[in-house]
Amino acid sequence: MKHFTSVHDIGNLDEALQEAFKLKENVFRYDTLGKNKTLLAIFFDSSLRTRLSTQKAALNLGMNVIVLDVNQGAWKLETGHGVIMDGDKPEHILEAIPVMGSYCDIVGVRSFARFENKQDDYGEKILNQFIKYSGKPVFSMEAATRHPLQSFADLITVEEYKKKERPKIVLTWAPHPRSLPQAVPNSFAEWINAKGYELVITHPEGYELDGQFTGNAKIEYDQDRAFEGADFVYAKNWSAYTGPNYGRVLSRDRAWTVDARKMALTDNAYFMHCLPVRRNMIVTDEVIESRQSIVIPEAANRVISAQVVLKRLLTDNY
Ligand code: CP
Repeated sequence: MKHFTSVHDIGNLDEALQEAFKLKENVFRYDTLGKNKTLLAIFFDSSLRTRLSTQKAALNLGMNVIVLDVNQGAWKLETGHGVIMDGDKPEHILEAIPVMGSYCDIVGVRSFARFENKQDDYGEKILNQFIKYSGKPVFSMEAATRHPLQSFADLITVEEYKKKERPKIVLTWAPHPRSLPQAVPNSFAEWINAKGYELVITHPEGYELDGQFTGNAKIEYDQDRAFEGADFVYAKNWSAYTGPNYGRVLSRDRAWTVDARKMALTDNAYFMHCLPVRRNMIVTDEVIESRQSIVIPEAANRVISAQVVLKRLLTDNY
């Protein structure tokens, strides 16, 4: 694996899952693999889980870690080509990236969709510039269109909790006060489809996701009907993807909040969310605090997904 930006980079998914479970038995099994190798984790956007779990994964492999918050203490970066740089951004990303690459052996990048230009977002402009100009293996810590470390951890969690060979998984839109990217639902759908599980996506009309990610998933506009017989409910907000509404909030309808009545329609489903979650917008206190909520083990598995990816990047590139 040269870079890691999506499920397409992971190779055989079942082998990757087996590797994850083996690693989970003893996270220190490869604690010298990363000796004298440095991870540079670059954040253009805020993070709790990704920041901590990726550092922990690197430390488990014996790596050194540098974390850069681009918006706190670094020079503001210009990303446009041909721009006359007479504004508030003193450094161009095309110099900054190779400089950052020269200080490390592996680069992790978090850069959300900006909603200024759909082509730039869906072309993964920032992430691809790191791949092109850093000279180092690059992995996504959530980019504009995908969050593969999260989705890999989600799938590990589904494997650990599933009670049938091919569970029914419902990805449900839920309300949020702000405009959020489509990266998590895109990526979740892509990984669940790659595993071949039954996937039903439910959302209000207007929130259709890009078909390249949803594939053959069933789209159900009636949330109650979608929940019937579900084994897992994965809640997430996202903003509109299609047409001129790209990046817009079309609804804050709390009738879509996941609550106990809706969970009772399922087959005793587990509740999942990538976190951070807005309680009583996305999900009620009652559901997230219930025995069926597995959001904490799901977040804990972020260390495992990051460690498998870092292990492979170290093994395949050094
Ligand atoms: N789920 C997730 O990526 O969390 P953070 O934004 O806190 O990293």
